[in-house]
Amino acid sequence: MIERPRRLRSTAAVRRLVRETHLVPSQLVLPMFVAEGITEPRPIASMPGVVQHSRESARKAYAEAVELGLGGVMLFGVPEHKDAQGSGALDPEGILNVAIADARAEVGDDLLVMSDLCLDEFTDHGHCGVLDAHGRVDNDATVEIYGRMGVAQAQAGAHVVAPSGMMDGQIDVIRRDLDVAGHEDVVVLAYAAKYASAFYGPFREAVDSSLQGDRRTYQQDPGNRRESLRETLLDVEQGADIVMVKPAMSYLDILADVRAAVDVPVAAYQVSGEYAMVEAAAAQGWIDRDRAIDESLLSIRRAGADIVLTYWAAEVARRLRSR
Ligand code: PBG
Repeated sequence: MIERPRRLRSTAAVRRLVRETHLVPSQLVLPMFVAEGITEPRPIASMPGVVQHSRESARKAYAEAVELGLGGVMLFGVPEHKDAQGSGALDPEGILNVAIADARAEVGDDLLVMSDLCLDEFTDHGHCGVLDAHGRVDNDATVEIYGRMGVAQAQAGAHVVAPSGMMDGQIDVIRRDLDVAGHEDVVVLAYAAKYASAFYGPFREAVDSSLQGDRRTYQQDPGNRRESLRETLLDVEQGADIVMVKPAMSYLDILADVRAAVDVPVAAYQVSGEYAMVEAAAAQGWIDRDRAIDESLLSIRRAGADIVLTYWAAEVARRLRSR
């Protein structure tokens, strides 16, 4: 026998030598929820270990993220009051903009401060955009608000804005408005291929979502593969600096396609439901939690993601350091 692939698996040392894919803290981004009007962090039942932060507890987490060498934090705001226009998104005193400013004050340029650019946390109907007279999500009116929201986030101090609403033409308008306002250096991380997924379930609790119905008129149909390339190439054409696939684990084929199709960095979002599934099975003692977490993240990196957004970012970075 000439070929014996097992030779390269025979000891931990040789396996380490030939491993193709690695997890490193600098490529992990921690999504965080910051809630208005609370003084203590509030647990999220469907995401054990994840909380809605108070501004104060969030500050400690930003500092810890720097200390752990994470790539960034992705901030979501949970406002006390919502309205049809999602006006809290544009208000400099709105919770997300305030959280961005807190984060920048804490970390400076030592950690990338990223912000979700979408209206769903701020609208009382829970949709990612404003509605027209027929109750449909109005693409062009929404995109116009996104442009202003991007500028508000940049003014608050965001290094990276992350449009997640899946409106047509959103990257174009956001990029242009950022540039006109003098924020040429703010990075646009586009949720380019984003599916209408059941795996966002726990997130809806995390942001106190008021959504009735679903997002299928703007997020993609899980049955579609080619469509993701169309969406991604449009975002790159419009100036996206980084493109993202979401969710991650049920969409590894999409991730591999996107990686092969573009030259910009590719990110993937391991979403709330992916987190909840592993935590729930581990809590039952049905899987080895830490190994399942590492394996899930490795699979996402292996499929083509340079950057992974994961609720385990801090924990995994800590574990990598202690190895
Ligand atoms: C939209 C947004 C959502 C998530 C991130 N950004 C919810 C949605 O599209 O319905 C989901 C993240 C997760 O499930 O972890 N602002």
